[in-house]
Amino acid sequence: MSSAQNEESTHRGLFITFEGTDGSGKSTQLKLLAKRLRAQNYDVVETVEPGGTAIGTQIRRILLDSGNDEIVPMAELLLMFASRAQNVEQTIRPALQKGAIVLCDRFTDSSLAYQGGGRNLGFEPILAAHRLAVGDFFPDITLCIDIDLETSLARAQSRNQRLSKTADHQETRLDDQSLDFHERVRKAYHRIAQQEPGRFLLVDGQTDIETLAERIWAAISPRLP
Ligand code: TYD
Repeated sequence: MSSAQNEESTHRGLFITFEGTDGSGKSTQLKLLAKRLRAQNYDVVETVEPGGTAIGTQIRRILLDSGNDEIVPMAELLLMFASRAQNVEQTIRPALQKGAIVLCDRFTDSSLAYQGGGRNLGFEPILAAHRLAVGDFFPDITLCIDIDLETSLARAQSRNQRLSKTADHQETRLDDQSLDFHERVRKAYHRIAQQEPGRFLLVDGQTDIETLAERIWAAISPRLP
């Protein structure tokens, strides 16, 4: 994969994505990093996938609705990329062109891990869908927070119990997959880390929030513009 930085003529910002299994704590860490960067006067844009735009948010509802269990893996993949195409064009690229640091909660590596690994589609169809949806556009840096499966599932379950009292309660279709599925997701992340050690940084998430935030800062700060 080439990075978004290769498109130097079209943008001056930095595109950072966060990855990890469900309950890894990546969304909390994304917010902490955004706060720290803003405190240093960086222009920061936060976004999320699936979602991130009005269209993407509608696609997200279809994807995560626990009632939609008949979605076939290829439809799931293409909906992820429909949301991504919209987000890159409408939010991410324009922000990078203005020189912002874009922090995205999940991106194509999630499709490699969940659809490629979890759903057993393999990496090739995901990379083909990526090229079709967004071309040669990849993150500059990806932080993947790695935790063991037991911790991941326990955290995701307790979060879903908390959310069961809110409108988000039905957004659990992908959390509700089997243990084998989640194991394949984690293995796929490890494979990406081996394939792309320069871009894809695996961070040990089996620690408290502050220590993890410091680990992430140590990885990111030398690469800031
Ligand atoms: P979300 O509630 O945002 O979970 P999390 O906080 O763990 O990110 O749900 C996003 C779900 O969508 C998550 O289970 C991972 C899945 N997903 C894919 O399967 N493929 C993708 O390409 C993306 C972006 C997400």
